[in-house]
Amino acid sequence: MPLKIIAADITSLGLDAIVNAANPSLLGGGGVDGAIHRAAGPALLEACRALPESASGVRCPAGEARITPGFGLPARHVIHTVGPVWHGGTAGEARLLACCYRNALRLLREHRLHTIAFPAISCGVYGYPAAQAAGVAIATLRDELAGNEAIEVTLCCFSGDMHAIFQDALDAVGPSRSPTT
Ligand code: APR
Repeated sequence: MPLKIIAADITSLGLDAIVNAANPSLLGGGGVDGAIHRAAGPALLEACRALPESASGVRCPAGEARITPGFGLPARHVIHTVGPVWHGGTAGEARLLACCYRNALRLLREHRLHTIAFPAISCGVYGYPAAQAAGVAIATLRDELAGNEAIEVTLCCFSGDMHAIFQDALDAVGPSRSPTT
């Protein structure tokens, strides 16, 4: 499985695309959203503001994804997705989270890109329990990457603790450990 797990700042990765865990407005925020906008510069906000609204103030509904250039980032593109807010697990959160990963990879393929890094979507402000989110991420990516060796996926965790949680989720489904990086 062309999937690896690292502990790093996602804004430092020079890949085809990095994924932003955004909010529906796509107008920036804290966490990884804030870090990506700071590193990309104001042109990213302008590009997001130019994206069409599907409803008042909504440029990206939860589970969907939008793509922009990376501007000042080493990454060539940013794929913005909006994870579910955790409401206890009975409001379709797992399905929506899986959609984030699927729709981001759909955009990667549509733009003929090959390398992508995801943060731990919804595991911060949105409160998704990390071990459950990791299980959804790994299962979805495993399904999406089956037979698709042309895409290289990195799960970019921001701490060693989160790296361990995602590594455990990967070990639970796959025979090989991700290369330690
Ligand atoms: N690189 C990689 N991961 C990061 C970085 C970074 N520079 N900064 C934060 N993270 C990690 C967090 O530690 C967390 O594990 O990204 C994960 C997702 O956390 P959030 O950024 O809080 O995203 P999320 O939980 O999806 O909440 C989204 O927060 O910032 C706002 O505008 C955003 O409203 C939206 C909400």
